[in-house]
Amino acid sequence: MGINIGVIGGGTMGSGIAQVAATVGCKVKLYDTNQAALDKAKGALEKILNRLIEKERIDSDEKNRIQENISYVNNLKDLADSNLTIEAIIENLEIKKKVFSELETYVADDCIIASNTSSLSIASIAASLQKPERCVGIHFFNPAPLMKLVEVIPAIQTSNAVLQKSVQIISDWKKVVAVAKDTPGFIVNRVARPFYGEALRIYEEGIADFATIDWSLKTLGGFRMGPFELMDFIGNDVNYVVTETVFTAFYFDSRYKPSLTQKRFSEAGYFGRKSGKGYYDYDETGKIVQRHSKMVSENQKTKIGEQIFNRILVMLINEAADALFLNVAKAEDIDNAMTKGVNYPKGLLAWADEKGIDWCVTQLDDLYNEYHEDRYRCSPLLRKMNKENNTFF
Ligand code: NAI
Repeated sequence: MGINIGVIGGGTMGSGIAQVAATVGCKVKLYDTNQAALDKAKGALEKILNRLIEKERIDSDEKNRIQENISYVNNLKDLADSNLTIEAIIENLEIKKKVFSELETYVADDCIIASNTSSLSIASIAASLQKPERCVGIHFFNPAPLMKLVEVIPAIQTSNAVLQKSVQIISDWKKVVAVAKDTPGFIVNRVARPFYGEALRIYEEGIADFATIDWSLKTLGGFRMGPFELMDFIGNDVNYVVTETVFTAFYFDSRYKPSLTQKRFSEAGYFGRKSGKGYYDYDETGKIVQRHSKMVSENQKTKIGEQIFNRILVMLINEAADALFLNVAKAEDIDNAMTKGVNYPKGLLAWADEKGIDWCVTQLDDLYNEYHEDRYRCSPLLRKMNKENNTFF
């Protein structure tokens, strides 16, 4: 695994990616224009590794080995000997393009130049290179050392050899790779939209409050966090912008429509955990102090809860099925993406098989008939599978 890795940007994602590569034995150069960011990354790694020693996951020799594998540099030229570079700087196309075109003048012809972008198209970034075929999306999830999933995204310019090599390298890093088409949100940030959007819509209709909706997804659905807890955790500002970006990038498809409720929470500075207030209130340690749950009987709660869970689940299944229909990724990769990237209790397509395709189509058609909104249109793939009595797996 002795390849040289250049990581550009030493913030949240870049420092995590550097740790992953160094842990498996790669020589890593972590580059940032801001010395303070590099110092912070170095200090944070020291703390993380000490914690791993406390938990007896690594010993001090392993800690030294990982640390020695990373050097912190502030000159882009220092990445000249890289076999693969992964960029994780500010989410701004013009700035990324500038860094990429400069980087290309330093590295060898066969160096793969990747971006960790969440929302920009890989095609637009690749276009800044003389050799765009060497560019690929390599999208980690936060925190990179803990989250198993990595989406690998070939642009229309990417050569097959570069795609295959990238998949090989990331698999060697003990990550689960899901190959995704260069479309907005790739797999996870597209398929997960209804988890937030439909929960907000259910709240806006006055069907239930935040705590009841969260309860239903956790208790009846087996999700680790409810949608409102998760939005508070991610930050309503960040989550809102992702939704708005995906909505715009899909030419305002109503399925991805952002929520005014979330916009207002974001405008008010109710970001969630980081600001002490969101859909819930938080204490200094980040624990929820107040749950604004209406008093309803257990019986009523279970009945409403089931409706809520079924509605959000079927919207998620529809999104996953449509991603497969439009060849965004293979069925197996779509399911892996959601279980390994955002810890869903089951893959959505496997869940569809379990519930029955007929059940999915009926639920979606019921929603469509009730609201007459394009948002609730059933994926043509589900409809076709239902007619043919097919399953995903
Ligand atoms: P961050 O703000 O924590 O770190 C960005 C780092 O880039 C900063 O240290 C900054 O000094 C440095 N930087 C900015 N301009 C630079 C330049 N021209 N040259 C070198 N360094 C520069 O950002 P974060 O959250 O790590 O995100 C980075 C990228 O990763 C973005 O493209 C984002 O979309 C993507 N991403 C973020 C995820 C997240 O949960 N935070 C998840 C997956 C992808």
